[in-house]
Amino acid sequence: MGHYRDHPDAIRALVREREVHRDLFIDPEIHQLEMERLFARTWVYVGHDSQVPNPGDFITTTVGDQPVVMVRHSDKTVRVLHNRCPHKGVQVAGEACGNTGKFFRCPYHAWTFKTDGSPLGVPLRKGYEHAGLDQCEASKGMAAVQDVHNHRGFVFCRLMPGGESFADFFGDSLSTLDNMVDRSPEGRLEVAGGVLRYTHACNWKMLVDNQTDTCHPMVAHESSAGTAVKVWEAAPEGTPKPMAVELFAPFVAPYEFFENMRIRVWKNGHGHTGVSDSLHAAYTPVPGYHESMVAAYGEERARAILADVRHNTIYFPNIMVKGPIQTLRVFKPIAADCTLVESWTFRLVGAPDKLLERTLMYNRLINAPTSVVGHDDQEMYERSQQGLHSRGREWVNVARLYEPGEEGRENEVTNGTNEWQMRNQYRAWARYMTETGDAA
Ligand SMILES: [Fe+2]
Repeated sequence: MGHYRDHPDAIRALVREREVHRDLFIDPEIHQLEMERLFARTWVYVGHDSQVPNPGDFITTTVGDQPVVMVRHSDKTVRVLHNRCPHKGVQVAGEACGNTGKFFRCPYHAWTFKTDGSPLGVPLRKGYEHAGLDQCEASKGMAAVQDVHNHRGFVFCRLMPGGESFADFFGDSLSTLDNMVDRSPEGRLEVAGGVLRYTHACNWKMLVDNQTDTCHPMVAHESSAGTAVKVWEAAPEGTPKPMAVELFAPFVAPYEFFENMRIRVWKNGHGHTGVSDSLHAAYTPVPGYHESMVAAYGEERARAILADVRHNTIYFPNIMVKGPIQTLRVFKPIAADCTLVESWTFRLVGAPDKLLERTLMYNRLINAPTSVVGHDDQEMYERSQQGLHSRGREWVNVARLYEPGEEGRENEVTNGTNEWQMRNQYRAWARYMTETGDAA
């Protein structure tokens, strides 16, 4: 018996208007309930459809704690299947990615399944002729996730039937993904440059909070980004500014910069920083890019797309998207104190290669296991994870610029150092953790 499983009021009491309880970060039962409830009731990112361009192409991944396989079916649509043989339970797809041809074949007893999960063949079928296999669960094949949505290449799924539709769950927040796709003159993205993947010894929500925490860069990143800027300032006059310095410098911009870039929250826990300015606003133009955008969209529309320089967009519960630099980070919960972080990069199809070069350099400088900036944050998360075990205090504060009655006033734009988006996430968290039943 846990403290929380049968006590929704106890879960609700963990999220106050201005503070959240440390159990959200350190309690294994809360983590388990997040897997069963939050990551089952929300639309969770699975992958990008450019990872599976041809029928039979697949990737394996997890949705919460559930192993799944995302596969391109013979009808060209992308399907998400539970990666579990109905026979003995073996994970049917064993590799990170590949092409399975027309069917999946379990490596244990060679049971086969079509790429929509439906059963295809069983060796020595005779032995099942009078065994009533059709009355067994095993006859149904690999379980397919019913609620799958492909939004312009980005594939999401919801494990538990019922609840809001994809469009209702994300609402206006889809404008960030749309802007990132529109930045391609062909309106198409491709995963490019591999993925940077490493674990952090902290709770996944610390990483989500950090994405709209605009009061930390000038402090936590002073030793890394700040040093890069100082080295650059000592360079002889006339030295061309390296791309790396251009990427590092905004991390040590003053508080006023972050206040003025503004923040916007949307319902259901989504939101973004960088409404009117952003860390990605002042990059050197890439020759030929603007022209190709104008040719594709016309002058006015091209300008509007490129002027939307959103910084970090949170798609609740666990991804962050940067449209202007074409990166997507996934914060995969492993345990209450362990998170797998994946940082993906995209090519803007039809745009000059220099843009992809900048995207890849950004990802390596900021998000790689060998980066300097990302490790500043990692040190803070891991010290928080340790510190929250202290019994000296119980609550984590998210009060900055709080106003009574802000709940329900979503879509507003406010001071960029407001912690409203964090509060927005925790309100959504409490709701999905305590909803009852599996259908709305
Ligand atoms: Fe940071």
